Amino acid sequence: MTTETTTPTTTTVLDASGVTMRFGGLTAVRDVDLTVNSGEIVGLIGPNGAGKTTFFNCLTGLYIPTEGKVSYKGTVLPPKPHLVTKAGIARTFQNIRLFSNMTVLENVLVGRHTRTKEGLWSALLRLPGFHKAEDASRERAMELLEFIGLQDKADHLARNLPYGDQRKLEIARALASDPGLLLLDEPTAGMNPQETRVTEELIFAIRDQGIAVLVIEHDMRFIFNLCDRVACLVQGEKLVEGTASEVQADERVIAAYLGTPFEGAPGAEEVAEVEAAEAHAGTTAPAQAAPAKTTDTTPAGTTTPADDTTPETPSTDEEGTR
Ligand SMILES: Nc1ncnc2c1ncn2[C@@H]1O[C@H](COP(=O)(O)OP(=O)(O)O)[C@@H](O)[C@H]1O
Ligand SMILES: [Mg+2]
Repeated sequence: MTTETTTPTTTTVLDASGVTMRFGGLTAVRDVDLTVNSGEIVGLIGPNGAGKTTFFNCLTGLYIPTEGKVSYKGTVLPPKPHLVTKAGIARTFQNIRLFSNMTVLENVLVGRHTRTKEGLWSALLRLPGFHKAEDASRERAMELLEFIGLQDKADHLARNLPYGDQRKLEIARALASDPGLLLLDEPTAGMNPQETRVTEELIFAIRDQGIAVLVIEHDMRFIFNLCDRVACLVQGEKLVEGTASEVQADERVIAAYLGTPFEGAPGAEEVAEVEAAEAHAGTTAPAQAAPAKTTDTTPAGTTTPADDTTPETPSTDEEGTR
């Protein structure tokens, strides 16, 4: 399914429709539609546990969605990570995944394996074929390192890089597969404000090279500054989607982040029940809180031990767990 947009030159790069991911009884992502068009930077926000990373995993073949479809440039993606990379989607991970004992340059070269004849194992084991491919790819890898500003550290071991540089190296490795769409999962996590600003510039530069970007981040200033469009997930559902200023002003988004459920929010009923129970408990003695709803029908004996069960030293139980 392709979406016609107003600008004739704009094409739909990513089209995810009705993506649902269930883990047993838990629905981590529910019926999410999201498109990313060429030339766009799209943001995905939402509180912790909202399903953002799970959604990325569904897009990149790490998970096979329980329901739904993911297309890249009009072709349905096979649910296999290496085929998704080959098709043109690259990603970084919330928890950095670098080959820590390989150099910065080698990490980028490994990222190129989908674009060379040599396979991943050849790259990892540094077989002779890999060295040939390495020669052919070295120039491109060095270009990428220059692009992200790590060219002077090409020979450093990845594990010796400062944290911010490791995040940048992950981006360079992702770019090495020549993607048309880059997915970034919390690219500025753990960065200081200056590193965050540099990353922002880097993402703009990536977009300017014709690579569409979908980015998960918690730093709202970063997201609203960077993104053409922002979607907000709450408890697995896409709650709001719009321009940065629309989403920024949406009271449902504010409520989701402040933890105040609004009327009709996913899970709001349960939250309201818990809050009501807590409020009720707050106005009654602890031992009476549980049976409060059924006071009338509670057998006489169970209403009496309130005083008996109130311990002299309330902290004893907690202390005992040490
Ligand atoms: N492999 C998995 N198995 C079971 N539950 C999972 C799995 N991956 C994620 N979840 C659950 O899905 C929900 C969404 O998690 P996640 O996508 O990591 O959220 P976010 O990235 O928005 O913080 C959480 O409740 C998480 O525990
Ligand atoms: Mg996450």
